[in-house]
Amino acid sequence: MFLSPFFQEQRLQIDDHLKKLLTIPLAPPLLAQAAGYSLFTPGNKRLRPLLLLATIDALDGDTHLGLTAACCLEMIHTYSLIHDDLPCMDDDDFRRGKPSLHKAFNESTAVLAGDFLLTYAFEMLAQDENLSFEQRIELIQVLSKASGATGLIGGQVLDLQAEGATLSIEELQKIHRLKTGALLTAAMEMGAIVASASPIDRKILSAFGETIGLAFQVVDDLLDVTASVAKKGRAVSSDVTKQKATYVSHLGFEGAQKAANQLLDKALAQLRPLSGRATLLQEVALWAVKRPA
Ligand code: IPE
Ligand code: IPE
Ligand code: MG
Ligand code: MG
Ligand code: MG
Repeated sequence: MFLSPFFQEQRLQIDDHLKKLLTIPLAPPLLAQAAGYSLFTPGNKRLRPLLLLATIDALDGDTHLGLTAACCLEMIHTYSLIHDDLPCMDDDDFRRGKPSLHKAFNESTAVLAGDFLLTYAFEMLAQDENLSFEQRIELIQVLSKASGATGLIGGQVLDLQAEGATLSIEELQKIHRLKTGALLTAAMEMGAIVASASPIDRKILSAFGETIGLAFQVVDDLLDVTASVAKKGRAVSSDVTKQKATYVSHLGFEGAQKAANQLLDKALAQLRPLSGRATLLQEVALWAVKRPA
């Protein structure tokens, strides 16, 4: 997947730490089993936590200090996909090559496992003793805003409302920025908070996150059409079946590809002021747009 050893190492650390965080002796075992089913598969790219940790590295911070925050971000992402697959939303029976959580278990368990990951992420952020109280509050502010009405949830509402509708490119872009871009931007901001970035660096990183977040969802739309069932791990063209508003339905396949490449160029240009410090971030950006699935 990622070329540089940094990402392989951090991926292992993220998995290890997530396993530790998910060991809750007094909780019903079913909850950890269900959450673990969605959290731990080779198909989880861990893009958001890896972006967060690469941001800390770019700022010469200590990545260990950001590990809990990175895992909490991945919990929110995982919850959002568990709920996104439910019959009342995208109604997708497969994810990452396996039955979706509500198929492997049942709907109520999937709803509750999602609820659990959402609330537990904030519980763990609040008690992250590696960070100051100020940093914890700021992380909670950033992550809750990105997950809420003017972020991921707002985007999911607009996405469902847009099924079967004809949107302007601006309306479509807004959905993508909210449902996907917000969490990728949060990854950058959270890394910046952990590493106590200067306001100027934080602004640069956050702008890059917005661009790469939009590019990532455009590529997700493209992959919905092209990725093989084996690679994507679920039926292809599920967006078409549901008459989803996507970049492909709006601009055509080549138009969407062009948009993704333009966004990648923009994102790389946004990193330029960081010069040598941004090598890992450049690598993630390239991979996020050129990925095979
Ligand atoms: C899928 O996200 C949903 C989007 C927001 C585009 P990812 O492709 O990052 O999901 P996993 O966790 O790696 O499967
Ligand atoms: C998902 O968008 C965005 C969120 C869950 C916030 P999609 O519905 O396009 O994601 P996939 O294609 O199911 O992974
Ligand atoms: Mg969806
Ligand atoms: Mg979906
Ligand atoms: Mg999709």
